Amino acid sequence: MSVHEHAGQTAAWATIRLTVNGEEHTVTAPPMKRLLDVLREDLHLTGTKEGCGEGECGSCSVRLNGELVNSCLVPALQAQGAKIQTVEGLRLEDGLHPLQEAFLRCGGAQCGICTPGMLMAAAQLLAQNPHPSTAEIREGLAGNLCRCTGFMRIFEAVAAAAGVAERPAALEGGDAR
Ligand code: FES
Ligand code: FES
Repeated sequence: MSVHEHAGQTAAWATIRLTVNGEEHTVTAPPMKRLLDVLREDLHLTGTKEGCGEGECGSCSVRLNGELVNSCLVPALQAQGAKIQTVEGLRLEDGLHPLQEAFLRCGGAQCGICTPGMLMAAAQLLAQNPHPSTAEIREGLAGNLCRCTGFMRIFEAVAAAAGVAERPAALEGGDAR
């Protein structure tokens, strides 16, 4: 990383190298610029959404070195050398990721603001636990808020993608999370 004065800027900007969805990138940005903004503004990966901007809603979730993070809380400098996966990186070479298919099939996305973050949280969950129980799905998505679906269709979609439930009845129990 190098830090230098950027033309017209008083604060030092940093040159940050990071790998996003398998592609290496170099960006020059204020060190405290949010990773969310680096992804959306510098790399034009606008799939990652901003909800609260305060670490509360999970809409901005991405995977950073294998961990799920809220990209609105991560300074760009912290992503130096990191491997990041965004929702754009979920897609498989031959089509949608099973989670994306399941969200479509089960109606797990409505307005769509929460959806990229939900997908990334679900992908993280299934990477760590390929066959989660209903309780584990709820727990795995507990940091992600949805104002539209009441959560049941999202839980159902994750269960369907994991092959652990065939019917919505398998996830009965209301919206409690
Ligand atoms: S926008 Fe990052 S947690 Fe809500
Ligand atoms: S689909 Fe609208 S917030 Fe979840």
